[in-house]
Amino acid sequence: MAEPRLTIAIDGVVGSGKTATARQVAAALGYRHLDTGAMYRAVALAAMRAGIAPGDTGALATLVASLRLEFGPGATGNRVSLDGNDVTDDIRLPEISRRVGAYADVPLVRRALVTRQQELGRLGGVVAEGRDVGTVVFPRAELKVLMVADLAVRARRRQAELAAKGVTIDLDVLTQDIARRDQEDAERDYGGTGRPADLVVIDTTDLTLQGQVDAIVALARARGA
Ligand code: DC
Repeated sequence: MAEPRLTIAIDGVVGSGKTATARQVAAALGYRHLDTGAMYRAVALAAMRAGIAPGDTGALATLVASLRLEFGPGATGNRVSLDGNDVTDDIRLPEISRRVGAYADVPLVRRALVTRQQELGRLGGVVAEGRDVGTVVFPRAELKVLMVADLAVRARRRQAELAAKGVTIDLDVLTQDIARRDQEDAERDYGGTGRPADLVVIDTTDLTLQGQVDAIVALARARGA
């Protein structure tokens, strides 16, 4: 009998490493990685390039309806392309990180992307990652995980990540930035209905990336993956 192809929904606080974790869990299970944040980033990038403000819902509706958004596997994770152009790196620029939230708050954008995400995950065998994947997008996912970690640890991880890229930033500045984004996330409405009863919370404060991946893979295996 073929193995069941589960749907796994991963959410996590800012800086919990959810994208890297979701990517590696998907690789370990031979599943697809669905990075929903990348989709919101791509829409924000397209809108900003077209000079469309988040409040211009008419123009946004036309843009979202005509956008060709494609995802393909690459050597180091998903590649994202917009109307045939690779935008994988562009969607991670700080300017996009700063402004994507305003576009992600627009209901018509959310509706369009949620529909697209549900189509992409229709057959299961997917590790979906994002704020609303366990509540709105895949409320019937077999495994729902929330990754949390202490603020200080998240700031130190972020500092180490930046240091590896040759960027030096004060720990206090990073801590304040993450705390502010936590607050923004807590205040935003993703259309969900609170925490799912079957949510598994994983505290990654004392875990390495490999440790978090192993923990989630073990949970998935226990559910038949
Ligand atoms: O996870 P990320 O930083 O790539 O997400 C980018 C933005 O999109 C962030 O502002 C949160 C938002 N987002 C969302 O509203 N719903 C999702 N399912 C995923 C991300």
